[in-house]
Amino acid sequence: MPHKPYVIDTMISAKSIAARIEDLSREIHEEFDGTDKLVVVGLLRGSFVFIADLVRELDLPVEVDFLEASSYGDGMESSREVRIFKDLRGAIEGRDVLVVEDIIDTGHTLAHVHDYLMTKKPAKMKSIALLDKPARREVDYKPDWIGFEIPDEFVVGYGIDFAQRNRNLPYVGKVRFTDG
Ligand code: IMP
Ligand code: MG
Repeated sequence: MPHKPYVIDTMISAKSIAARIEDLSREIHEEFDGTDKLVVVGLLRGSFVFIADLVRELDLPVEVDFLEASSYGDGMESSREVRIFKDLRGAIEGRDVLVVEDIIDTGHTLAHVHDYLMTKKPAKMKSIALLDKPARREVDYKPDWIGFEIPDEFVVGYGIDFAQRNRNLPYVGKVRFTDG
């Protein structure tokens, strides 16, 4: 491991996340009720746990696709220049799209992905982020739904990594460096 030793303090329990997803899925259902052309687009890799739980709460006909944009890399600093590494497999022209992100921080990733996907001419596009760190925002972008607003802490778990580790934690925790 290339990093200083750290521990993870629980911030949001698995139970709280599940309860919040139930509420969010009701709102999302209302928004997309009646559509048979919904594509739920997960941003790799951090959203893979969230999107899995979210779509299983949605009682709608959905397709699932994935997009990979650049992220923090192995560090703790956001990169402002966002690139698309892996594009969608399917077309979204005329479709209803829900973009699913793990966490919105500076806002660069979601703003860029939004502009990029709009060039594909979807009929409707909405976005959801499980976590929001509003204190860090640099770009004026607001997801349509947020799971939890959190303080400016580096978090891991529930799909979210620190140097590719800890994605498999069932809860969201904050990284705290320890001595030695
Ligand atoms: P943004 O472009 O600054 O909004 O950053 C969004 C991306 O940065 C997210 O999709 C995450 O991959 C990553 N990120 C932001 N905050 C954290 C964090 O606290 N822990 C791990 N990754 C994070
Ligand atoms: Mg990410």
